[in-house]
Amino acid sequence: MICKEKKTFDEITTELLIVGVQKNCEHIKGWKDFVSFYGEQVEKWIRSGDIETERKKLTRIPYVGSNQHLQRVLFVGLGDTKTLTRNELRETFGLVGKKLREMKADNFTLWLESFTAAPISEKDIAFLFAEGSGMGFYQVPHYKTTCNVPDVYLDEVHFVTKEDFEEIAESCKLGYIYAEAVNEARTLVNLPPNILRATDLADYAVNLAHQYGFEVEILNKAQLEELGMGGILAVNKGSTNEPRMITLKYKGMEQWKNVIGLVGKGVTYDTGGYSIKSKTGMVGMKGDMGGAAAVLGAMKIIGETKPKKNVVAVIGATDNMISGDAFKPDDVITTYSGKTVEIKNADAEGRLVLADAVTYAKQHGADYLIDVATLTGGVITALGYDKTGALTNHEGFFDKFMEASIKTGEFVWGMPLTERDKKRIRESQLADLNNSPGSDGHMIFAGGFVGEFVDNTPWIHLDIAGTSDASKPYELGPKGGTGVMVRTLAAFVEDFAFKMD
Ligand code: BES
Ligand code: ZN
Ligand code: ZN
Repeated sequence: MICKEKKTFDEITTELLIVGVQKNCEHIKGWKDFVSFYGEQVEKWIRSGDIETERKKLTRIPYVGSNQHLQRVLFVGLGDTKTLTRNELRETFGLVGKKLREMKADNFTLWLESFTAAPISEKDIAFLFAEGSGMGFYQVPHYKTTCNVPDVYLDEVHFVTKEDFEEIAESCKLGYIYAEAVNEARTLVNLPPNILRATDLADYAVNLAHQYGFEVEILNKAQLEELGMGGILAVNKGSTNEPRMITLKYKGMEQWKNVIGLVGKGVTYDTGGYSIKSKTGMVGMKGDMGGAAAVLGAMKIIGETKPKKNVVAVIGATDNMISGDAFKPDDVITTYSGKTVEIKNADAEGRLVLADAVTYAKQHGADYLIDVATLTGGVITALGYDKTGALTNHEGFFDKFMEASIKTGEFVWGMPLTERDKKRIRESQLADLNNSPGSDGHMIFAGGFVGEFVDNTPWIHLDIAGTSDASKPYELGPKGGTGVMVRTLAAFVEDFAFKMD
């Protein structure tokens, strides 16, 4: 999206203008200019409620004044801006993005000053607009043969502003980079599992690497066997589709040190294996690669913004299927780390894939680890569909991550992992660990299992089973993949200063 500058309303060359209406618009410095540009009736309509000032309410009104390009104005209700948060403004812009798609408006002008609220500057607004509207505008790609409506894109945004435009333009560009990366991650989640297999996920990563100059390594089944990656191989055993271990390296510093490892669960379909899911429980399990999508989306942002950081991304990709040869409860497997695992549940497959991926990330020099996975239904029971559950072995590291998540508005909540929990994970007559200690505390046992492979490396586990796939449309997007954690991971990498308490 191109971001352009306009100094006055008269200079507007688009057919749509977007204006924020606050409870007390008259306090905005430029309000009088706007009223004389649009016409006095606008104040009357605000008073009568024909133009709604309530937060998140949108009103579309034709423009009949002297500017020859402008045809309509979209008024965006902001309510009382004393209580307007960045999150709410982002969500409001998400709704604007949806409206823009509905209106097929691909170029428009936004009057920045009309959206200003106490702590939110015009630069911030430009970012939140590009990010929020870019996400709201997203549509799930489909395969309907009867639909011939041409797709629309957000081409250009013009900002009416009197402030220094260079900073505003940068901010707008960055916001749109974030939105596009989220949308690409969403599409990966939304792709059908017969179309996005582990090999396809690897192809996507290779393309990303070529686009941004990352180092890339893709391990195929024979190579995984050679290396002894018994975790991912066990899960893949019942499948006719090959697994892939995907590694991307972004080198933003002279030396390969202080490396942040991002590890994603890339289960392209989870039938539950021999611990088979119910026929309703299985639907939607194409999204079991949401962790992989989050990591790839974050890498796209990193590729665009090129922070002075080192990042290694590792994704374990496979589907979890059934065949005469599939792994099953009672099997004992040996993971890449050498640790053995007694299989108690073939549906607790993500942790096995992650075990090998985490070990591999460490081998590639990761000094910090964050794993992201649609790991348990338990996290949904505990926190619902709007909170990502987290575990950590390092509070200082986790605090830094929380700062990033507060900035992006992606809700993360830390859960406890106690020595008693770890003991349960290590309980087995036959092996070092078991992959399903019981029907209680699923989220903690699953994440805690991954923690068994990180040793002393500062580590955060993110269970996005509730947040990765929306069951209905929401402000920032449609039903389907949400691209959750793309923005937080990228913001974290950007800001992390390697100083922790
Ligand atoms: N992929 C699922 C978790 C999941 C559930 C993701 C709902 C998205 C929505 C995971 O592999 C799984 O099956 N977990 C089991 C673990 C149990 C068998 C120990 C679960 O949470 O029920
Ligand atoms: Zn499963
Ligand atoms: Zn799964």
